[in-house]
Amino acid sequence: MRINTLPTQIASDDSVNTTASTEAIRFQAPPGGRLSPAMGAAFQRDGFLILEDFITPGTCEALIERAGELLAGFSPDTVTVFSTRSQVHKSDDYFLQSGDKIRFFFEEDAFDEAGRLRQARVLSINKIGHALHDLDPVFEASSRTPALATLAAGLGLHEPRLLQSMYIFKQPWIGGEVNCHQDATFLYTEPQSCVGFWFALEDATLENGCLHAIPGRQPLRQRFRRTPGGLVMEDLPHEPWPEIEPIPLEVPRGSLVVLDGLLPHLSGPNHSPRSRHAYTLHLIDGRAHYPADNWLQRAPDLPLRGFEGAVCP
Ligand code: FE2
Repeated sequence: MRINTLPTQIASDDSVNTTASTEAIRFQAPPGGRLSPAMGAAFQRDGFLILEDFITPGTCEALIERAGELLAGFSPDTVTVFSTRSQVHKSDDYFLQSGDKIRFFFEEDAFDEAGRLRQARVLSINKIGHALHDLDPVFEASSRTPALATLAAGLGLHEPRLLQSMYIFKQPWIGGEVNCHQDATFLYTEPQSCVGFWFALEDATLENGCLHAIPGRQPLRQRFRRTPGGLVMEDLPHEPWPEIEPIPLEVPRGSLVVLDGLLPHLSGPNHSPRSRHAYTLHLIDGRAHYPADNWLQRAPDLPLRGFEGAVCP
């Protein structure tokens, strides 16, 4: 079902505008992932790009169903709560070792004072991460497609590497907010090369906690690093965020939102009765330096890969 609260503005191919957007501009997904000049210009200008109908309803359903299967097969003898507000994890080892695994992270408000889940597990999970794209065949098939390979090339990723994947549930009633951040804080390369692909598997609206962004790129203001004493969020010299209201990126299911690693973005809590499932994939350029103090590290037997072998799902 399409949501009807969206502004109807769909940009045309020739609507190149160099002024930062004050509302979310949407494009129909280009055939084969080939960006038009207007799409490329929008991404360069805004640091984000909305491509509607990039994936089919069938793909959305397949990913939702697969996430449900993975969750059903999970034995929660070890659980980690993911604080969306501070973006830290209360069980560092479980999190730190998840870069090349499929692991499960719960909502901050999912547990009562006694540590028991307040509601069913399927309604308590925050996300699954962080190597779904390499370890699960269903997610891999949707992560390595010719259209995404073409899109990555069009975005300037000469040697794309699929670094991180997350399935985000944004549960009804308890889905936590995510504070304003830049993805390069968590996936840092020199030079910056991180790009996020955010797939709406369900309609994302103001009510159920859609993305918001401050259009444009800002200097990186924090780094999330491994240190001998544990994970730290290190402040870098920075100015305050621009004093403009973040704009909502409401999108219908099937949309792909491309996010530059330096784009400030956030999402609100979900206090609605509807979930807001999303699948995210983060890429870096293999030519950039990936420091060993990034939180996400991979075992040598699971090296980063690009789109080799991409096939249509
Ligand atoms: Fe993010």
